[in-house]
Amino acid sequence: MHSDAGRSVDGEDAQAKVGAGGGLRALGGTEVRVSPLGLGCWQFSQGRNAVGRFWPDIDQGTVERIVEASLEEGMNWFDTAELYGAGASEEALSKALRAAGRSPGEVVIATKWSPLLRRAGHIKRSAAERARHLAPFPIDLHQIHQHIPLSSVRRQMDAMADLLEAGTIRGIGVSNFGERHMREAHAALARRGIPLASNQVRYNLLDRRIERNGVLDAARELGITIIAYSPLAQGHLSGKFHDDAALLQRMGAARRRMRGLGPKSLERSAPIISELGEIAGRHGRTRAQVALNWLAHSRPGSVVAIPGARDVEQARENARASSFRLTGEEVARLDEVSA
Ligand SMILES: NC(=O)c1ccc[n+]([C@@H]2O[C@H](COP(=O)([O-])OP(=O)(O)OC[C@H]3O[C@@H](n4cnc5c(N)ncnc54)[C@H](OP(=O)(O)O)[C@@H]3O)[C@@H](O)[C@H]2O)c1
Repeated sequence: MHSDAGRSVDGEDAQAKVGAGGGLRALGGTEVRVSPLGLGCWQFSQGRNAVGRFWPDIDQGTVERIVEASLEEGMNWFDTAELYGAGASEEALSKALRAAGRSPGEVVIATKWSPLLRRAGHIKRSAAERARHLAPFPIDLHQIHQHIPLSSVRRQMDAMADLLEAGTIRGIGVSNFGERHMREAHAALARRGIPLASNQVRYNLLDRRIERNGVLDAARELGITIIAYSPLAQGHLSGKFHDDAALLQRMGAARRRMRGLGPKSLERSAPIISELGEIAGRHGRTRAQVALNWLAHSRPGSVVAIPGARDVEQARENARASSFRLTGEEVARLDEVSA
C-alpha cells in the first residue's frame, strides 16, 4: 500500500488526483461522497453555550470567508453539531454557504444529535430543529455525538433509520463510539439493510489510540469511514506553540487543559514536530499540512479529517493539505516517531 513519490500511499494516482479536493470518497457504504478533508465548524459556535465558549468568537464575515476559501480549495463538506452553540454553528454555516452562492445538493453537511440527558425519542424532533437551523441545506450525514446509554444503541439507530427511510437524511454515523458500540450500531442498522457510514473520533499524530483499541480495524472490516476530529491536536501539530510558547499564555485555561498543552507535552511532541518540519520543508508545505496529509492519505482503510480554522489563512492552508503526496518512507518515519 505504501509507495514512493510516483504513487500515492492511499492508492490514488498521485498525478491524477492532486487537485485541492484530492478526489471524492464514499462515506462508508453510502452514496454520500466527500473530499478527504472537510471543514470542522465547532469554531462557529459564537460562544452561545458552554461547549461553544471553548473557542473565541468568530464574526459572521470571517465565517463566510473561511467557508468560501474552503470551498474554493476543494472541500465539499462541513461538520457541525447541535452542541456547537445550540444551533449557532449550523446557522452560521448555512448563512455562509448561501453567501458563497451554494445551493442545496452542492455541498455535504454532517451534523450531530446530542444524547446528553435525552432518549432516542428525541432524535426526530431534534432533526427537524437541525434542518431549520441549516435551511435550505439538508442534513446529509446525521451522527450520534457520543455514546450515552439513556436509550440503547439499537433504539438510537432505529430512530436514525426512520429518518433515513423518510428521506430526511442520507447517511447515519456515530461519534466517540468504542469498538463494541460501533459494532452494535452497525448490526442494528444492518437489520434494516442500512450501512453505518462513519465513526467520528479523535485521531491525529499525537493520539493514535484508535489504532490500538480495535476501532480502526473494526471500521475497516465493516466498511465504516473514520472521520478524524482534532486532526491538528487543536493547533499543537502546527508547531506554533513550539516556535512561540508565549502563545499558550494568551489561551484560556480550558483550551490549555483540553489540548494537554504545557511545557511537558511540548517537550514530548518535539520529535514529531521536528520530523513534520523536515518533511514539510522537502515538499514546500507546512507542518500542519503534513499532519493532515498523513491522516487523510496514508492510513489504512477509509479515513477523512475535519480540521477547524480560526481565520481564512488557516482554512486555506488546511484545505490545501490534500494537494501533495507523502512518500512511503515519509509515512513510515512519521508512523515510527509518533508510535
Ligand atoms: N465529535 C466530537 O466529539 C468532536 C470533538 C472535537 C472536534 N470535533 C470536530 O472536529 C473539528 C476539528 O477539531 P478541533 O477543532 O477540536 O481541532 P483541530 O482541527 O485539530 O484544531 C483547530 C484549531 O487549531 C488551530 N489551527 C487550525 N489550523 C491551523 C493551522 N494551519 N496552523 C496553526 N493553527 C491552526 C486553530 O486554533 P487557534 O488558531 O485558536 O490556535 C483552530 O481553531 C471541530 O471543528 C468539530 O467539527 C468533533
